[in-house]
Amino acid sequence: MVKIKNVHACQDCGAQYPKWSGQCLSCGAWNTLVEETLQSTPPVNPRYQGYATGEPAITNMTDVTLQEQSRTLSGLDELDRVLGGGLITGSAVLIGGDPGIGKSTLLLQAVCNLSQKMPVLYVTGEESLQQVTLRARRLGLPEKNLMLLADTQVERILKLAQQEKPVVLVVDSIQTMHTDLMQSAPGSVGQVRESAAQLVKFAKQTDTTLFLIGHVTKEGTLAGPRVLEHMVDTVLYFEGEQDSRYRVIRAIKNRFGAVNELGIFAMTDKGLREVSNPSAIFLSRYEKPVSGSVIMATQEASRPLLVEIQALVDQSHMGNPRRVCVGLESPRLAMLLAVLHRHAGIATYDQDVFVNAVGGVRITETGSDLALLLAVLSSMRNQPLPHDVLVFGEVGLAGEIRPVQAGQERLREAAKHGFKKAIIPAGNAPKGNIGELEICAAQSLQQAVDHFKNLSSNRVVAT
Ligand code: TYD
Ligand code: MG
Repeated sequence: MVKIKNVHACQDCGAQYPKWSGQCLSCGAWNTLVEETLQSTPPVNPRYQGYATGEPAITNMTDVTLQEQSRTLSGLDELDRVLGGGLITGSAVLIGGDPGIGKSTLLLQAVCNLSQKMPVLYVTGEESLQQVTLRARRLGLPEKNLMLLADTQVERILKLAQQEKPVVLVVDSIQTMHTDLMQSAPGSVGQVRESAAQLVKFAKQTDTTLFLIGHVTKEGTLAGPRVLEHMVDTVLYFEGEQDSRYRVIRAIKNRFGAVNELGIFAMTDKGLREVSNPSAIFLSRYEKPVSGSVIMATQEASRPLLVEIQALVDQSHMGNPRRVCVGLESPRLAMLLAVLHRHAGIATYDQDVFVNAVGGVRITETGSDLALLLAVLSSMRNQPLPHDVLVFGEVGLAGEIRPVQAGQERLREAAKHGFKKAIIPAGNAPKGNIGELEICAAQSLQQAVDHFKNLSSNRVVAT
């Protein structure tokens, strides 16, 4: 039965209300409620279809037989890695990112590879067929067998998909899609939600792997409803600094693999190239050690990564000294500086402090705390640490250095790249030797600062 329903939907978060109000009660945004008419029977979640058909809904767990989940490799190792080891049939993947970051390029490269082995349909709602083809030719991608469709109407797309039975379906982008079920304009939250729901349902029912490309808003979240993220199995974000050619693809949610997994690409004139040794790119190479630079090892899911943390500490001429973080968590900086003062006696209240993670990488884990503080100290004292020193560790409010997860992996990655010394939490000190790494274990911030002084003063004597 077709029901006609009027709702007021928040264009930011997708929350629905029967009445209009000035502020969305769910996300707090002002003036974002828009009236939408929904004409539909409530969509049935395909996973609960047992309800509708009257099949038994309860099963003993021991009776559940698992089907081997087949994974298809996309031909781009870095993409396969973030997906958890390849594409899963019947899964829906949402890829978000700023405009121009390379979402369309990435998927075009992937589908051109895939189309050599299986039927693939690439639906473009933003670019014309000529534009897509031009790009594929310029990049020298294999184009045999790739099915292209320039359309934005979901029902029409699904009808064609039903006929052609692609194994992989790419929709670029979900914001351009619209469905007849809704009266509102394309790009509105209702349209995006309903279009995505239909596409995801199709993918689940026909075991198609679905890729949805999504735009992000100024605030950096996926434009359109947050509910999109709940509907799909995997959410990937494509990130990178505007002026850097490196792009990082990160899994935010993954029902079939680890989250926070990273894939790293470089944007070149021949499209996206995979970066197989990412640690090398985030380290800037100086002739001589410079002050304010510390190398840390961060562990994003299954892979450790060496990243350079830079700090610049400068006399402040304002009543309120500046605290600026790029690529690291800003609120933590003020807290860590307070710990530095209270537990190591190093005051920065009259200094501007800028810190940066080199290469446009974003670090969200606490393992960067100690590297950040030692970079600040190095800049303040103008004492460089030698090239071959690695630092990581979490700093607690009591001035203690806390161990972080996957310490061994981080140390092994550092040893692989020729590091000789590591200032790390005592709790992460390895039992045996790791390469030629000399471990300087610290239990407190004061101990870490002492290690820093030893290592950096050795360096000053040597030069
Ligand atoms: P695109 O994939 O169109 O971005 P999105 O779909 O995320 O909006 O990426 C386009 C950008 O990438 C554009 O600014 C130009 C750049 N680019 C290159 O530098 N080299 C290339 O080979 C290609 C195809 C694009
Ligand atoms: Mg695009």
